[in-house]
Amino acid sequence: MITPSPVEIHGGRFYNEDCIQGAKRHLPDSSVDLIVTDPPYGINGDLLHKHYNRKEGFVVDGYVEVPAAEYSAFSHRWIEQAARVLRPGGQIYVVSGYTHLLAILEALRDAGLEEINHIIWKYNFGVFTRTKYVSSHYHILYCAKPGGKRTFNTESRFGLREKDSQGQSLNYEDREDVWMINREYKPGQVKNKNELPMALLTKMIQYSSGEADLVADFFLGGFSTARVALELNRRIVGFEISRGIFKARIPEMRKVVPGRLLSDLRVPRIDTLDHQGRKWTEAETDSLLRRYYDLRKKRTKKATVEVLIREFGRGRFSIEKVLSRQKPEHQDEPRLAALTDFN
Ligand SMILES: C[S@@+](CC[C@H](N)C(=O)[O-])C[C@H]1O[C@@H](n2cnc3c(N)ncnc32)[C@H](O)[C@@H]1O
Repeated sequence: MITPSPVEIHGGRFYNEDCIQGAKRHLPDSSVDLIVTDPPYGINGDLLHKHYNRKEGFVVDGYVEVPAAEYSAFSHRWIEQAARVLRPGGQIYVVSGYTHLLAILEALRDAGLEEINHIIWKYNFGVFTRTKYVSSHYHILYCAKPGGKRTFNTESRFGLREKDSQGQSLNYEDREDVWMINREYKPGQVKNKNELPMALLTKMIQYSSGEADLVADFFLGGFSTARVALELNRRIVGFEISRGIFKARIPEMRKVVPGRLLSDLRVPRIDTLDHQGRKWTEAETDSLLRRYYDLRKKRTKKATVEVLIREFGRGRFSIEKVLSRQKPEHQDEPRLAALTDFN
């Protein structure tokens, strides 16, 4: 039997209901900051355990599938509700396999949501095949509702100037649109047929929301999005149509400790550049050029700019723009000649 009133846990609201009806009943227009969701895949549910390399005995009963013939109409209906409840600038991540990807893409476009990135999530334990390539990725469609400011916490995980041991930017690597994140292997533990890994959910929620923002999951399944959202101190609302799954998961949600994950998160090293964003004065430009020439006698251009960033408290882009405007490579530049004279 369907329970239309929510189960409230740690301020989160969970409805054992169809998400389309549930959203209409319980979620006002423009009330949600972020949706992270993983709809049913429209493939034969009874075969899902094979797809996910699991022993059926350890999989929670009651997963509700959507018949393939209805998938497109179903996607349009729930995504229309998702678009309605998102605030302008609010965002949605939809995890999708390949089978019904087109239906999801069309529904997102028809609902007026703007595609920000099409992310590929590469995972381990792909479906074994002999006569074709092994399928080991999902699609994550990251979209926003137009008309408002989108939250994107660029330095929430790695500072823009943090490098790995090879000198590569950690921030750049983390923000590439191919994510290699392993599934969690929990031998002998009961779980939903296709629970999303915590690392994947943490990444989406960290980049696209702030503490106390309202996150929604239209297809709770193993409640993994809900758990991670609460553990990151976000508010949560969600729907799960299956009675069996809902009943099995609610007691676990009561054990969640809100905010628990925050202290485990990597602390990014963010260099605040003192003068970033300020207009360059003529005196500052002159002193930059003078210093540039001085440093260039012993350093490469790249190393010189690194020093200038530190000394002048400006970003790389800003410094390079000033340098290129002055064409510092050309010794015969009249302005530089004047500077040399001055020295
Ligand atoms: C792919 S699973 C979600 C897995 C989840 N993200 C996790 O990490 O455990 C999809 C879930 O949606 C549920 N579902 C199917 N149709 C639904 C509907 N109309 N409304 C709400 N939930 C639905 C299924 O029972 C299933 O548990």
